[in-house]
Amino acid sequence: MPERIVIIGANGRLGRAILGFCEGRFEVLPLISADLNLTWPEELIRTVLEPEDFDLLLTTAAFNDVDKCEGNPVADQINGAAPGILAKICAEKNARMIHFSTNYVFDGSKAEPYTEDDPVCPISDYGRSKLLGEQEVLGVSEDNLVIRLSWLFGPGDEKNEATPDWAIRQAVKSDAVCIVEDCWASPGYTLDVAEAVIGLFEKPDVKGILHLANEGTCSWKEFGQHSINCADELGIPVKSKTVGGTTLESIFGHSGRAPRPVHGSLSNARYEALTGNRLRNWEDAVRHYVKHTVAARYLDS
Ligand SMILES: NC(=O)c1ccc[n+]([C@@H]2O[C@H](COP(=O)([O-])OP(=O)(O)OC[C@H]3O[C@@H](n4cnc5c(N)ncnc54)[C@H](OP(=O)(O)O)[C@@H]3O)[C@@H](O)[C@H]2O)c1
Repeated sequence: MPERIVIIGANGRLGRAILGFCEGRFEVLPLISADLNLTWPEELIRTVLEPEDFDLLLTTAAFNDVDKCEGNPVADQINGAAPGILAKICAEKNARMIHFSTNYVFDGSKAEPYTEDDPVCPISDYGRSKLLGEQEVLGVSEDNLVIRLSWLFGPGDEKNEATPDWAIRQAVKSDAVCIVEDCWASPGYTLDVAEAVIGLFEKPDVKGILHLANEGTCSWKEFGQHSINCADELGIPVKSKTVGGTTLESIFGHSGRAPRPVHGSLSNARYEALTGNRLRNWEDAVRHYVKHTVAARYLDS
């Protein structure tokens, strides 16, 4: 088990979830962008990390605005080069690094869930920058672990909405909600992902690339519809109960928007083979999130 853990990105959705599971169990140094910024030059990053003793470093920080990454060299810096610098510092300290990546490293042409062995071919600059980060981290040490995720949702900054939050807010305030129906992936509940990641702390033999998501695949529209159904069941006053469909092309086919992979489901087969565990199915995960986090925004306690 690790003795001292650094989390870079501790203020993000996944960072908060992992920090929550670590607190009281491990000694943790949570860092936010004001403490360590991934745009800083290597020397400055080293001044923060070199004095610290740690044997595990997690990087949940990322430049995640897929559209803003398009044509933006800062994406390669934050998502690509900086994880490489962190990996070098980890190697010097003999610390393990667990880094997070995305299903957007795939082009989306495979209708079946993607495995870790499937060829990567990103179609956006965000995907390319995240792939660069994977290569940097594993290029420094094959003992590091890169966990690919998709469609993350969970407690966090309410301004940074994921699909359940957005869909329910739209359904409460307007008569019609439209969500993309020709795009599929596997939702990932940060609380489930975080618990699984903590479980991997005691498995240093798990290295390389690993896919992790709640079980099952859905379209973006089904993800939103199920979120609204859960809200409705709980008595959240939704005006729009049935989601209408729209297309990737109509939402993302304009200049200023990055292309999204049509298919992006992740296979959990390797995770299950290595640990004997599975994450709960995405429908139950969404129901848990809506009941335990979203409902409080709309219902008197
Ligand atoms: N969200 C998704 O649907 C999704 C899907 C697939 C994969 N992923 C991957 O999963 C991981 C976690 O995502 P998330 O949704 O939890 O992210 P998030 O909520 O957007 O949080 C990202 C964090 O990154 C930090 N950050 C951004 N720029 C930074 C910089 N220049 N220097 C230092 N920190 C910086 C921010 O820190 P401050 O708040 O301190 O500024 C923010 O808290 C990421 O690797 C992401 O690529 C996410």
